[in-house]
Amino acid sequence: MAMTVPPKPPHGLAGIGKESLPTPSLIVDEECLNSNIKRMADFFADGKARLRPHAKSHKCSALALRQLEAGAIGVTVATIEEAEAMVAGGIRDILIANLVVNEFWVKRLLGLAAKSDVKVAVDSVQNACQLSRATQGTGTTVGVLVEVNVGMNRCGVDPGEPACDLAQLVSSLPGLQFRGLMGYEGHAVGIEDRRARAKQCERSMDLLTSTAELARSRGLSVEIVSGGGTGTYDTTGRYPGITEVQAGSYALMDLQYRRVTSDFRCALRILATVLSRPTRHRAVIDAGLKSMSTEFGLPEVCNQEGVVLDDLSEEHGILRVGEGHPLAPGDLVELLPSHSCTTVALHPILYVLGASQVVEVWEVDGRTIDPCMSNGSIGPSCA
Ligand SMILES: Cc1ncc(COP(=O)(O)O)c(C=O)c1O
Repeated sequence: MAMTVPPKPPHGLAGIGKESLPTPSLIVDEECLNSNIKRMADFFADGKARLRPHAKSHKCSALALRQLEAGAIGVTVATIEEAEAMVAGGIRDILIANLVVNEFWVKRLLGLAAKSDVKVAVDSVQNACQLSRATQGTGTTVGVLVEVNVGMNRCGVDPGEPACDLAQLVSSLPGLQFRGLMGYEGHAVGIEDRRARAKQCERSMDLLTSTAELARSRGLSVEIVSGGGTGTYDTTGRYPGITEVQAGSYALMDLQYRRVTSDFRCALRILATVLSRPTRHRAVIDAGLKSMSTEFGLPEVCNQEGVVLDDLSEEHGILRVGEGHPLAPGDLVELLPSHSCTTVALHPILYVLGASQVVEVWEVDGRTIDPCMSNGSIGPSCA
């Protein structure tokens, strides 16, 4: 459900070559991005489940709109800031696949619910009652999915009776509308062996879909049954009873997921400049821990043969350079992040590159809080 997108001011950097970009910065290969989006959209074009991509990976409403144009039904997000950015970007169908408990964020959730079709996860009686109370007197209804622990052991109520009891309570509370169930098989998505991954995923989806059946047998309307990630989209997306898949990393990809699937290509890179070549075997770039995550290991240098990233400090990256390599101060180096989600979150802008120049400049709008959104709840300066 996309609405008209508010025009963005033209950005002075569109049309320039990447050698003129500031560094460190994040660049996205448009051809890889489009092919990833299309590949995932094609998979869902002829199945029963639909795609609701997770925007936590890119936190960027402009990128999410491309996913919607390719056929996605809406977006999944992890935070209220991401949800607000998506709504401001013109997207109305939002699943917050996370719990919202902090009172500040609950207020903002209600602001979003007043102007979009927002659904939020709940895994406790306490949180369900809190959200219901918060809606009182506002005339707002919040859509709710009960989050089921399908084996990841993060959040989520136990499958079966406990989840159905909570679903029943949610459907009886004023101001809440029970919409369905979600369960993310995060413990399965990174298993490198394809068959073992699919097996683990099926066990999780069995827990989720049998819980949905049990809820239906109790008379509840379970419209949404949502799960899935980039490593499991093909299993979850064809599992009987699953209505939506939340995969997100597939659009930009990273080294961690490259080990798991070859269905998608690495579209995201960190662009850095060589600052110094102190020795024959060492060069130093201007990108460090403040511009790339090391959650799943060090990033990989991708446009310089024989050059390896050895270490990172805050603002510097130490490269090991092969004998005779001409890398010199001023040269550009590109690195593939080990984890795109935690790398994007460090940057304000994504530069989208065509064959030789910047074709789009996208704000990573979901990483920042806009204090004047919602009902102006942060303070008088928003009046
Ligand atoms: C709730 C939830 N759903 C879906 C995903 C899927 O994301 P990915 O495509 O990175 O596997 C994640 C990843 O962290 C998640 O936390």
